[in-house]
Amino acid sequence: MITIKILTGSTRPDRFNVQPVAWITSIAKKRKTIKTELVDLEKLQLPFLDEPMAPMMHKYSKEHTKHLSKIINDADGFIFVTPEYNHSYSAVLKNAIDYLFYEWNCKPVSFIGYGSIAGGSRGIEHLRGVAAELKMYDLRETILLPNYWENTDKDGTYHFNEQHEKAASDMLDSLIFWAERMKEARKLINAKK
Ligand SMILES: Cc1cc2nc3c(=O)[nH]c(=O)nc-3n(C[C@H](O)[C@H](O)[C@H](O)COP(=O)(O)O)c2cc1C
Repeated sequence: MITIKILTGSTRPDRFNVQPVAWITSIAKKRKTIKTELVDLEKLQLPFLDEPMAPMMHKYSKEHTKHLSKIINDADGFIFVTPEYNHSYSAVLKNAIDYLFYEWNCKPVSFIGYGSIAGGSRGIEHLRGVAAELKMYDLRETILLPNYWENTDKDGTYHFNEQHEKAASDMLDSLIFWAERMKEARKLINAKK
């Protein structure tokens, strides 16, 4: 059994983020071969990075860092659900990422982005560079929701369609494929340490 964790990229009141997060979580939960867990940064309430040592030293002094370390270490792969803020991804997501290093290593990550015309793609492209530094494998399979507000009803509920469902299925297939293989790769790497 592999574990896929879904990270929320927004902590704003009334954030749209909860909708794609709930949608992809419900689809992922139908897969019998994976365990899916939500990592809601709004609930974690991490302060701005406040560790005296760099994460590569792997010496954590704060309880919130140890807690986050366990959550991320337990994962075999990730879905980052990110808004686009000023042509990048959110500061709250970067802050959570920067807390750790080894816990992210050799794990696949895929992305759901949303926003205006670019559908969050500019934020996702920035995340790809960060993923490389963390030795993650950033998957090609992504889901973009451009101008998402044009596809909501009066109460703000977004309408996901068949194309989105197909994209989610492709994303999960790829994520599971690589999560299984990278889990084996991590065992080989750890055995050499
Ligand atoms: C600080 C800020 C900057 C934004 N910049 C962009 C942007 O560069 N590109 C874009 O597509 N949308 C941008 N938006 C619009 C967001 O995509 C939209 O507000 C979205 O709902 C934010 O996600 P959230 O509700 O989950 O926080 C920005 C919104 C905020 C709050």
